[in-house]
Amino acid sequence: MGDRKDWLEWHGPYDDPGSPLSARLAAVQEEIRRALPAAPAEPFRVVGVCAGQGRDLIPVLAERGDLAGRVRARLVELDPRNAALARRAAETAALSCVDIVEGDASYVGAYAGYVPADLVLLCGVFGNIPDADIFHTIACTPQLVAHRGIVIWTRNRRAPDLTPAIRRAFAGAGFREEAFLAPEGSLWSVGVARFEGRSAPADPAEKLFTFQDEPSPDGGRAAVRGSDVAAQGSTGT
Ligand SMILES: C[S@@+](CC[C@H](N)C(=O)[O-])C[C@H]1O[C@@H](n2cnc3c(N)ncnc32)[C@H](O)[C@@H]1O
Repeated sequence: MGDRKDWLEWHGPYDDPGSPLSARLAAVQEEIRRALPAAPAEPFRVVGVCAGQGRDLIPVLAERGDLAGRVRARLVELDPRNAALARRAAETAALSCVDIVEGDASYVGAYAGYVPADLVLLCGVFGNIPDADIFHTIACTPQLVAHRGIVIWTRNRRAPDLTPAIRRAFAGAGFREEAFLAPEGSLWSVGVARFEGRSAPADPAEKLFTFQDEPSPDGGRAAVRGSDVAAQGSTGT
């Protein structure tokens, strides 16, 4: 077995404004901007699943000083180096409303107190878990998202492109699609779906997915097929 994927290194292309990962980030940030409310009466709740360094949410919240005290966000990230960078970014932006948990994001219990959320970020997840786990996670999203809440998700479109099935699965779980961004010439995509159903009671023991972050015994070919396109440098992106 080889080394585990280095999830700190994965974030490297974000520092290159011309990278596909940066283009995807800009699209996600724009959708977060759209999802944030003008002036919510109740605290607006956000959860970030496998949040990495929080590069999507934290800078956008930092733009919205008017939301101080009106947002409660929980970002869950397993890699302590990424969690520390996210924490530092939140502190630098004086965002005490962002709670960064270094832990396993794959259990519904990781979001206790923050769900049902008004905004759920599932970015950089669906390209790194087995197909069956993608659909299980989508089926469980009613435990995470509030009625009329938004889910922002990402997934590569490398063949076989799973995004049509993912979009159907969100529809089947009670979501109405608000946007699906899949620019020509790129392999990334960003989906935005609004939950029209009723939230389900959160079961803290519910396991959503298992991350595939180890190269497979076939020398990594299966891992590359399944991994998030944005993490793969120049591979088709
Ligand atoms: C592809 S990166 C995406 C990061 C971020 N969401 C983004 O789009 O910039 C996946 C992240 O998931 C983290 N991760 C992997 N398994 C995890 C788990 N079980 N719980 C929480 N985070 C996990 C990795 O450390 C990594 O930072």
